Amino acid sequence: MQLPDEAITYEYQGALAPPASEWTPVAELRARHFISPARLRELAPRMIQIRSQVAAERDLQQVPPEMQPLDAGFIEFPARFLDQFRRKNEASELGKVIAQAARMREQVDNVVILGIGGSHMGPRALFEALRSSYHNQLPAKNRLDVPRFFFEGNNADNDALQELVDLLQETCVDPEERTERWGAIVISKSGGTLETSVAFRVLRREAAEYYGPRSERLKDLFIPITGLTGKLRDLVRALGFDDTNTFTIPDNVGGRYSVFTHVGLVPAAVMGLDVRALLLGASAMSRRFMEEPFERNPVLQYAAVNYLMSEECGKPIRVMSIWSKKLEAVGLWYDQLLSESLGKQGRGATPITAVETRDLHSRGQQNQDGARDKFINNLVVKAPRAQPIAVGMADHNEDDLNSLNRKTLPDIMDAAFRGTNEAYFEAARPTANIVVPVLSEHTMGQLMQMLMLATVIEGRLMGINPYGQPGAEIYKRHMRQALKG
Ligand code: PA5
Repeated sequence: MQLPDEAITYEYQGALAPPASEWTPVAELRARHFISPARLRELAPRMIQIRSQVAAERDLQQVPPEMQPLDAGFIEFPARFLDQFRRKNEASELGKVIAQAARMREQVDNVVILGIGGSHMGPRALFEALRSSYHNQLPAKNRLDVPRFFFEGNNADNDALQELVDLLQETCVDPEERTERWGAIVISKSGGTLETSVAFRVLRREAAEYYGPRSERLKDLFIPITGLTGKLRDLVRALGFDDTNTFTIPDNVGGRYSVFTHVGLVPAAVMGLDVRALLLGASAMSRRFMEEPFERNPVLQYAAVNYLMSEECGKPIRVMSIWSKKLEAVGLWYDQLLSESLGKQGRGATPITAVETRDLHSRGQQNQDGARDKFINNLVVKAPRAQPIAVGMADHNEDDLNSLNRKTLPDIMDAAFRGTNEAYFEAARPTANIVVPVLSEHTMGQLMQMLMLATVIEGRLMGINPYGQPGAEIYKRHMRQALKG
């Protein structure tokens, strides 16, 4: 079901040292800061070996202590979920996700997604990429009755939470009107994350005041997504949710690898997105990763090139330079994925998200002329979804744009992209491109699965366990301690 014209590719010519015919200062710089093609060829067989190692890890029943934690379930999850859907349809887990999401859409016009880290970034990335940038401002009929979405429980910011509560109180006055009803999806794998738990408690208090303390809506309009055990599981049981209306995050999938489990799929289905296409894209990427040789394997290519850049070419900073505003949250999701997965034992590249052309006016100077400590991955969407907007002719040409009247916004973006990368190349600044043909559920499935797989491969190559986040747990301990005082 992988349509060839929808396949994501990784172009890394701009990261390879070109053959230098004669010595020049810039040729010397490229030899130092770019990857030698011979070194990449040498690494390719090792990449295939690591892939076999990661494939074997998927099937381990007993995980030896030195390999723990091991959360490789995300690799096969999309294919398994789809397969069960094909066999059991509505009775499958995906069938239940779709049905529950449809119920929520029918009942409410406002949905708050509560979660932090991996329980926040994935759903947010899907929402921003695949819904209108002005979704919440559109009238209900233009939104095709897809609710408005708000993200909370991802901070302990008093004023932000209060502003959401104010908004709900001011816009939702009659609970009998669908347009004035709100609900929440609360996501926490551990079930004990303080920011999310506190926001859930505050919203339950608000809901009890709005719908009445004994209203069935206190259960019907809340969807909990959590691990098999934990405080959130215990709480929702005590509140009378039964296990059929609580979704379970699989044990063998870690938070930041969970976007194609219930964590991303339930919110995506409520957003009216095609969850099957998301899963098809993700499983197509897992298959390509497992089956294709290095030359056609964007996961292995991305992992190898980025590994060499940070470990051997002196580029500790990895910039995701995004040429589509709608993908900024994908960049932030990747920031978390990379930082928590590989930022261990004093190692791991530091990710930065930049959105172009906006950040050419802030970071561009430094990328072009600053310290040579950065590797730039461009994330490029080839074709816009909407009709290209033309500059057009105007009676007043003081802005001097009439000569460009036939040019469109995509032409301008393309010129900026090519101009920037030529300028970087001339200054011996290496770049590579993740090329996404068009934004859709299918390509988002591929893209996010590709980056998750590449992170695992890069970790294994570095000898770093890409799962678990022991460093991030330390602040939680200290915070709880501080609250006791
Ligand atoms: O990747 C991870 O595991 C973390 O970033 C978690 O997603 C984050 O800490 C939130 O945890 P939880 O879903 O348990 O509330």
